[in-house]
Amino acid sequence: MIIVKIPAELETMRVSGRIAANVRDQICSLVSPGTTTAELDAHAARLIAENKAESAFLGYRGYPGNICISVNEEVVHGIPGQRRIELGDIVSIDVGIRHEGYIGDTAVTVMVGVSTLEVVNLVDATRDALEAGIDAARAGNRLSDISHAIESVAVAAGFSVVREFVGHGVGADLHEDPQIPNFGQPGRGPKLRPGMTLALEPMVNMGLAGVRTTDNGWTVVATDGLPSAHFEHTVAIRAAGPAEILT
Ligand code: MF3
Ligand code: CO
Ligand code: CO
Repeated sequence: MIIVKIPAELETMRVSGRIAANVRDQICSLVSPGTTTAELDAHAARLIAENKAESAFLGYRGYPGNICISVNEEVVHGIPGQRRIELGDIVSIDVGIRHEGYIGDTAVTVMVGVSTLEVVNLVDATRDALEAGIDAARAGNRLSDISHAIESVAVAAGFSVVREFVGHGVGADLHEDPQIPNFGQPGRGPKLRPGMTLALEPMVNMGLAGVRTTDNGWTVVATDGLPSAHFEHTVAIRAAGPAEILT
């Protein structure tokens, strides 16, 4: 069942979204060559606590990090550790926090120093795909209109959408109904209604769409070893126009 939030809940989610976005942006500004992903995670833990929030990921199904940090061929759910960021890497920072009972969930992919044109195009296309999804997230549209808009942008740019992991409803729980694939025919699924809150999160691979989970049980990588990008916003469906970005 898709939960429609009342105005007071939306107001709380705006606060949660703002906190998640601030943590995301501050961690991104610390991504630089030589830094380990564990150091970034420790900073995130501090920032989340300073904002009187808690990580929505730590302990979720046993996940051991405060945030997810996915480098290059890592698609999502990278566990922070001793890996050092290098020049030319792309790094996805995914932050989920809970504040006053409500979640904000957001991710961006940043490029470290100089990247090849193809990597720049991958990152741009993934961000553009998310924006197209947000634009399709309108009252009266159907859920798969979002999916189709995201896929169209990624495919037009020559890249592949990951199919095994999806966006989701978000609110008091990190993962609520509905699941939101990043591909599919338009015009299917439930009608979007004002007050629905959704985490839209395209994961786009430079090469083939295939992914596998590594031995740590979490980190998802592109099977062909080529780079992958990930952007995510928590959004709220409005009475009219594109969804409101909460993060
Ligand atoms: N970040 C994922 C999402 O955006 C969920 C991560 S679950 C975790 O939905 F346990 F890996 F943190
Ligand atoms: Co996320
Ligand atoms: Co999410």
